[in-house]
Amino acid sequence: MKTQIVSLVWGEDKESKHAKLAQAGEVIKNGGLVAFPTETVYGLGGDALNAESAKKIYAAKGRPSDNPLIVHIADMEHLEKIVREVPENVRKLAKAFWPGPLTMIMKKSDIVPYQTTGGLDTVAVRMPGHPIALIFIRESGGYVAAPSANLSGKPSPTTAKYVIQDMDGRIDMILDAYMGSENIGIESTIVDMTSEIPMILRPGYITQEMISSIIGKTDTDVTIFDNASNEPPKAPGMKYRHYAPKGELVIVEGEPQKVVNYINEQTKLHAQKGEKTGVIGTSEMIRNYQADSIKDAGRHDDMLSVAGRLYTFLREFDDENIAYMYSESFASEGVGQAVMNRLLKAAGHRCVKL
Ligand code: TXA
Ligand code: MG
Repeated sequence: MKTQIVSLVWGEDKESKHAKLAQAGEVIKNGGLVAFPTETVYGLGGDALNAESAKKIYAAKGRPSDNPLIVHIADMEHLEKIVREVPENVRKLAKAFWPGPLTMIMKKSDIVPYQTTGGLDTVAVRMPGHPIALIFIRESGGYVAAPSANLSGKPSPTTAKYVIQDMDGRIDMILDAYMGSENIGIESTIVDMTSEIPMILRPGYITQEMISSIIGKTDTDVTIFDNASNEPPKAPGMKYRHYAPKGELVIVEGEPQKVVNYINEQTKLHAQKGEKTGVIGTSEMIRNYQADSIKDAGRHDDMLSVAGRLYTFLREFDDENIAYMYSESFASEGVGQAVMNRLLKAAGHRCVKL
């Protein structure tokens, strides 16, 4: 398949942008697939109400079809059509955080095919914050099913370059657009609104505290951090080895000086064997490391910066053929919780505590 790459440049006039997005919308309405930017990561979109489109998405990603897709909408009126009812708490959270990086799970209505929901009676819905995404969704008929636009098992793409790397030749169109300065870089927070006490299934930029401040008590799926838990995660996708770079990543936790010493000892040993190494560290520490590729994640108190860069670093390490990577550990508070969740997954839960 020939993939059309359509660029939307910063400052481009409205009409020209709209014409391109209308064309992308036609592709979706005709059952095709289009990758599009959101404020979290790029999505791989298809018509959420068309079972054949959902099948194509799974095939393009190489993803198991029991892993449900998020339905992206642009207007609240559209929500009513795809869920059985809109609970009061959903309205409150939508008012507070939509458009934005929050996905809510509700009971699905009959018009949503089981192919979109991976066989579940529930549907995950999100109204993304990126202006291009909102226009594209409207032009597509209002309901765009989209997982992250990476091949299954690879880190989610935050730039069109990595969408092209994974999806060229597999889908109809890729919208290449600036992600915006408010680029979040990690996937949306998922909250299950069908349980009596709403439950966070995947941490993200919208934290549990932010959600609880609007609707009161919430729970967190125990499997998010506890790798040893015997229970399967409640979001089916969380069970797969995700976000993984090709090489081996280890998280190193401890006093800063000990972390530096440990990492430099390891990178030296690898260097002696001719193996390429990489380090992810905070701005304050970065000049102390010795490795082939050193990534500055931002200041240690700026978790948003770390979130925004993490997946790009993992992709760059792959491009640079780095075999062994080490990362500092980050404080598991606020957005840091989501950062550590993704980092632990990328590391296959390998963590050295000094
Ligand atoms: O930020 C995001 O959410 C991005 C952008 C493109 O919007 N999308 C994204 O989609 O991360 P994906 O497919 O990579 O992750 C969706 C997650 C999976 O873990 C899936 O299992 C879970 O959402 N999910 C979807 N529907 C669900 C449902 N009905 N019940 C439980 N989990 C669900
Ligand atoms: Mg994904």
